[in-house]
Amino acid sequence: MPQTRITKAVIPAAGLGTRFLPATKAMPKEMLPMVDAPAIQYVVAEASRAGLNNVLVITGRTKRALEDHFDRVPSLEAALERKGDEKKLAAIQESSNLGDIHYVRQGDPKGLGRAVLCAQRHVGDEPFAVLLGDDLIDERDELLAEMIRVQQATGGSVVALMEVPREAISAYGSADVTAVEGESFVQVHGLVEKPAPEDAPSNLAIIGRYVLHPAVFDVLHETGPGRGGEIQLTDALQTLAARDGEGGGVYGVVFRGRRYDTGDKLSYLKAVVTLACGREDLGPQFRPWLEEFAAGL
Ligand code: UTP
Repeated sequence: MPQTRITKAVIPAAGLGTRFLPATKAMPKEMLPMVDAPAIQYVVAEASRAGLNNVLVITGRTKRALEDHFDRVPSLEAALERKGDEKKLAAIQESSNLGDIHYVRQGDPKGLGRAVLCAQRHVGDEPFAVLLGDDLIDERDELLAEMIRVQQATGGSVVALMEVPREAISAYGSADVTAVEGESFVQVHGLVEKPAPEDAPSNLAIIGRYVLHPAVFDVLHETGPGRGGEIQLTDALQTLAARDGEGGGVYGVVFRGRRYDTGDKLSYLKAVVTLACGREDLGPQFRPWLEEFAAGL
């Protein structure tokens, strides 16, 4: 049976962001600047590059900044036009031309699984992608297009996996996998959310990209609170991994490219410095300064 083409991306951005307080008291962490664009703009741009132009952002209490960011600001555009500042004009227009962006509010930020459930009505009965708004994939490295290909080939759900040092696995979900003969992806047999290193089935961590079969919605409705009292997407995927037939089966694409986690302070700082070093307009001045600064530490 031919698979439905995937056009929808869901971006959960309703978490409390407690690791970034007080910055996230009145603003979602997905709006923190990565040099000069908020993290979520990189994520929406990644979805758009993969052909997902129908984007649903799951927002929370602090939704206004997100909506304003992707909206047009005619007065600002007119002011930049009057000044003849083409570059800045293009920059602000870029963020409002990234696709068809919708918003739904998660009243109760009780977990990623709950956030994904908020997308059910918008997504309907078709496979869709989930991109965590605080997790960035370098645009030079391909991930989402390959995950979409695997979903279309298998008809199941697909997670992105990345090797991490074993002692770091407790910050992620961990996957129990086996190779699939003749394929570059793996089959996932089990998933555990944030295990102790000695209990983790592998050092393959689930990172913030998913391409899911809509069967996940019914499973999420039946999934009780898991780790931290939250409805965990990982737990629903564990159920799907054990299921045969329509919508069953979970597969993994192992990503070996560059990923930037912006959700905690240390990795956020590393991500901003890495992006700034790679920028044509900033890198040539920033890198020598950084070397000098580091030499003086
Ligand atoms: P995190 O696990 O990083 O949680 O969420 P958090 O609450 O945002 O941050 P901390 O741990 O308190 O600092 C991963 C992603 O899932 C979204 C977040 O916005 C983030 O993009 N999320 C999480 C939701 O949309 N809703 C939730 O209920 C939980």
